[in-house]
Amino acid sequence: PDSQQGRLIKLHETTMRLYHHILMNTPAGESARRYLQKRGLTQELIDQFNLGYAPKEEVLKAVLEKEGHDYQLLRRSGLFTEDRSGSLHDRFHDRVMFPLKDGQGRPVAFSGRLLQKNTDAPKYLNSPETPIFNKRRLIFNFDLARKAARENGKLLLFEGYMDVISAYGAGVHNGIASMGTSLTDEQLAMIVKTTNQLNICYDGDAPGQNAIERALKLIEASAVASQLKIRVVQLPTGQDPDEYIQQNGGAKFRDYLKNTEETPTAFRLRYLRQGLNLSNQAELLSYLNAAIGVIAKVGDPVARDLYVQELAREFQVNPQNLQQQLTTQLQKQP
Ligand code: GTP
Ligand code: MN
Ligand code: MN
Ligand code: MN
Ligand code: MN
Repeated sequence: PDSQQGRLIKLHETTMRLYHHILMNTPAGESARRYLQKRGLTQELIDQFNLGYAPKEEVLKAVLEKEGHDYQLLRRSGLFTEDRSGSLHDRFHDRVMFPLKDGQGRPVAFSGRLLQKNTDAPKYLNSPETPIFNKRRLIFNFDLARKAARENGKLLLFEGYMDVISAYGAGVHNGIASMGTSLTDEQLAMIVKTTNQLNICYDGDAPGQNAIERALKLIEASAVASQLKIRVVQLPTGQDPDEYIQQNGGAKFRDYLKNTEETPTAFRLRYLRQGLNLSNQAELLSYLNAAIGVIAKVGDPVARDLYVQELAREFQVNPQNLQQQLTTQLQKQP
């Protein structure tokens, strides 16, 4: 407990309480309180995730020094920037603060969100890496989600913290998010220790779709691929899970999650045809060819057969011809 790591965690706990207090109980926190209210966050959710507010002026150094944390520890905490003279200044100003917690639920870093769009500054600012924060290994909400996953058998991977938090408020407690960057092998290893199903539920925009495809590739290439069943939940165009919940409510969201999950192959078949005009014969033929390429990568021959039949039915082509194309593709594979 008196190790450097233990002291850094203590310092983060104090910081989390301070930011939360400023958000909830001070005039400085008022604009952030209104912001969170406008976004539909209840008091219960704000408390559950220990959200806070870092005010415009510097507050952190004095409080942490008073608690006896020394300069070197403050320097290593990631919560300060250092000027040329070696003086420390609060890193986070005028941001809503999301504590980032480790697998035991202990705060090890923060992400701070701007209250309004600002083209000069990043929307979310994260703590830098420290002795207790490795962003490749941190999974947002992992502590709570893995408990929930023991009950319902899967984890849901979202893009953003706000998606995880809104879903939690909607009674979906098994949501996680990586750190903005793409999923990492380290995170996958942690996920596989917890569950054998992961549903990818990214934003319903073009970057979200592309991110799904990237995540699928990463998972397929990883050491844990065979241990993890993957499903994709694609949100309606232009919505992320948080927006979907604010618009439609929690019950609809839970139904949506249940009713629209599809296999990676089904997702890819849909993804491939986007923007194509399939009543044009040339486009249809090239789509069918690409689709057969996707189906050829499916390991299970029975599943391959089902996809071929479905494709043939949908476009009213002879399944035997598609089957033949598939056989050719399979022979070409290593
Ligand atoms: P809201 O706008 O608050 O609803 O957030 P969001 O989660 O919808 O954000 P978005 O879909 O734009 O991005 C998804 C995730 O990417 C966020 O939750 C962050 O983890 C990360 N992210 C977004 N913007 C930034 C940024 O400017 N810097 C960094 N480091 N990460 C970001
Ligand atoms: Mn400063
Ligand atoms: Mn997005
Ligand atoms: Mn989003
Ligand atoms: Mn959002």
